[in-house]
Amino acid sequence: MADIFSPVKLGDIDLSNRIVMAPMTRDRAGPGDVPNDVMVDYYRQRAGAGLIVTEGTQPSPAGKGYWRTPGIYSDAQVAGWRRVAGAVHDAGGRIVMQIMHVGRAAVQANKDADAETVAPSAIACPDRIAGPDGVPVDTVLPRALATEEIVQVVVEYVAAARNAMAAGMDGIELHCASGYLPMQFLSSNSNRRTDRYGGSVVNRIRFVVELLEALAAAIGPGRVGFRICPGVSFNGMDDANPHETHAALLRAVDGLGLAYCHLIHIPLVGQDALDLVRENWRGAIIENNGLTLEKARGVLAEGKAQAVSFGYLFIANPDLADRFRRGAALAKGERAHFYTGAGDDRRGYTDYPALDA
Ligand SMILES: Cc1cc2nc3c(=O)[nH]c(=O)nc-3n(C[C@H](O)[C@H](O)[C@H](O)COP(=O)(O)O)c2cc1C
Repeated sequence: MADIFSPVKLGDIDLSNRIVMAPMTRDRAGPGDVPNDVMVDYYRQRAGAGLIVTEGTQPSPAGKGYWRTPGIYSDAQVAGWRRVAGAVHDAGGRIVMQIMHVGRAAVQANKDADAETVAPSAIACPDRIAGPDGVPVDTVLPRALATEEIVQVVVEYVAAARNAMAAGMDGIELHCASGYLPMQFLSSNSNRRTDRYGGSVVNRIRFVVELLEALAAAIGPGRVGFRICPGVSFNGMDDANPHETHAALLRAVDGLGLAYCHLIHIPLVGQDALDLVRENWRGAIIENNGLTLEKARGVLAEGKAQAVSFGYLFIANPDLADRFRRGAALAKGERAHFYTGAGDDRRGYTDYPALDA
């Protein structure tokens, strides 16, 4: 019966409590997709979480698809993230970087003019995505990666993970959910390849398995987590059998000694997603999606997960763990400023006060 305020170790990462800040894209990076002052403040304010997972961060120019998301491939980006990690550590927190390659979920106007859009197959993401002015537009028709190019994408991810560690991060989280590149490989409707990366389940999970193996070899398995969301339809995902696909993936990486599996738990027809993870994965689990303090305590008390994450609640409650501890009221986040500063980057971002401020 683990208490939410008790310490826990996820792989090699020591958390002072089990309250994790879920990754959230906030679209505030500066020129060159470099983390800026306002991002340093934002993450520092939230260091009371046992662990912060950063917003999705692109490993390469081709991995970008949204407006003003940060990168982790240039020296300036590494320097910017070093300030973020330093601020969080100085405030007593822990932070891992979520590495997010969007694959086909990309708007050209949001990325460098010469950056490509690649995916397992040349099938466009059917969902529209917000452009620079916030108005949703069509995504780019992706170019299918050639078999021999896939190793190069893995190399980019590995370089990104090494850069994250050089920036002082406590580890990385591989984004394999929400219809981005890894999930585009997993899902039968977005992966129509006929080489060893497509077709059968074992072929469709191969990219993610090879990626996790490479990341683990590069920075140590205990510093690598991964995020999944079996059954999600976001960004045009429609896998013929999400249970089978994710069970196979979890079993394939179970022996690697990875830090954790971060589950975005949505209702699934058939077996419950958390049960699916527990049945096929012996490592630590971070449970997420729509949790309240009470629900989170229930999940931990039942021993179904080792930690719990909160997204929305961290937007307006930088001191969420402290508020939980004190039984204090929670502030409501303002949706209009979730994704952009709209002229003032701080608004709806770093201007939510802590209780004692
Ligand atoms: C503004 C916003 C941005 C998000 N960006 C990301 C992201 O970059 N990567 C990711 O894995 N999930 C992202 N999510 C999903 C959250 O991490 C989380 O799974 C979701 O909000 C559900 O948890 P909650 O009910 O506690 O908010 C985002 C959610 C929000 C609200």
